Amino acid sequence: MNLAISVHHLKKNKHHKTQIKQGMKTEFPFTDLHANIEEYYEKTDHKIRADQPHKFTNWEEIRSYYPLDKDIVYLNSGTEGSMPVQVLSEYNDYLHKWASNPSYYFAFNKITQDWQKVNRAKVAEFISTTEENLCITSNTTEGLGMVIMGLPFEEGDEVIVSLQAYPSLISPLNVLCKTRKIKYKIVPLPTYLDTKQEIVDAFAAAITPKTKAICVSHITYTTGLRLPVKEICDLARKHNAISLIDGAHATGMIPLDMEQIGCDFYAAAGHKWLNGPPGTGILYIREALKNEHKLLPILSELYGFENTYSITDMLQIRGCNNTPGYTALCGAIRLNTDIGKERILNRILELNDYAKERIIEEWGENALISPFGSDKRDLCSGIASFIPSRDYNKRFDEAFITGLSSELINNYNIWIRYINFVNDPSVTENKTWALRVSTNLFNNTDDIDKLFDTLVKIA
Ligand SMILES: Cc1ncc(COP(=O)(O)O)c(C=O)c1O
Repeated sequence: MNLAISVHHLKKNKHHKTQIKQGMKTEFPFTDLHANIEEYYEKTDHKIRADQPHKFTNWEEIRSYYPLDKDIVYLNSGTEGSMPVQVLSEYNDYLHKWASNPSYYFAFNKITQDWQKVNRAKVAEFISTTEENLCITSNTTEGLGMVIMGLPFEEGDEVIVSLQAYPSLISPLNVLCKTRKIKYKIVPLPTYLDTKQEIVDAFAAAITPKTKAICVSHITYTTGLRLPVKEICDLARKHNAISLIDGAHATGMIPLDMEQIGCDFYAAAGHKWLNGPPGTGILYIREALKNEHKLLPILSELYGFENTYSITDMLQIRGCNNTPGYTALCGAIRLNTDIGKERILNRILELNDYAKERIIEEWGENALISPFGSDKRDLCSGIASFIPSRDYNKRFDEAFITGLSSELINNYNIWIRYINFVNDPSVTENKTWALRVSTNLFNNTDDIDKLFDTLVKIA
């Protein structure tokens, strides 16, 4: 598929427009997957097994691994990814094994047992660190909470966050404001920006002698802005502040190297762009054996009984976890690595550029609120947010945006989501409302055309 295809070319091919039938319901085509994996492989021609290396051939083949309902257009990996058949089969396989002898698979089997050493090593390699610095979690929220609630913040300490931080980061900070009288400061991020430096400068200006930590999203959930996390972590270190990155959207989308980023903590999701099972996430702790920042394990079975455990071991051992899911997460990692991390990033960005071109073509440059252009590539991600109108004021019209989002889902089976945010914390009445489209590796230009052809009709 030629991604350089212009929007003009598309215009000429309107007969490719969506054929989605309203209100149509389909049977999930893989209902027998649980019953018999082998039979499933026979039937569906998916011969690629989770435990075998995968060779990239083309994107349409990759797309065929994802058992997405044929009648939906799925452009919302920013909320949840889908699991490819390889991951589903590995998950099911280990769930079946678990059911066959639960105590053995909980405590003794080296793949599924609670310490998770084997899987932690695989996940660690994926983000260029080592097993002792890594804990497998249930999601990003859990990792962020483990760090924020576990750090020894004291009354008067200040934490800096960016304006478009996700509630999972703000919520534990709110608890600490109440219980330990810390304060957090919100740094406004310019909506339209040209360089990484503008972002770094905004954080630098917010630092005071009381700043104890800087917490930022690697990619914002609102506009998909990719933040210069390495530069922000350097800045934090220069001021003796702890750095915590919310990497919910980065894992699986962009190649990650913890050493290169240089953060103290990185919390991420396995169930979004990486297309791992629900309830899977990652927490990285820099030089966990030293535990430089004296993180306490707020969720653990081990603290206080012996002082020989590392912080990541203590956080890993927190009751019964979904370790068959963690095993399948490693399947998702293997597939991602086999396809190629850079190739996936390029694919995601190319599809997103294509969506952005269509936004500009249909509604003009002002309609697009995410960064765009080859000179801003390192600010871009697989998320594009936009207002499907040439009327500038429609961005403040909640009913217009939420109505369109519901109509797309309910009448056209097109799954995206809406977002809202403020540019300036002191002016909250002018909240911006926008639609958000996520382009993952399994999407194609037809998906994107279906979305925009439909929006042109209904917006
Ligand atoms: C930036 C960001 N952080 C954290 C989360 C929460 O992710 P999780 O479900 O993995 O806890 C989300 C969810 O959309 C998000 O967008």
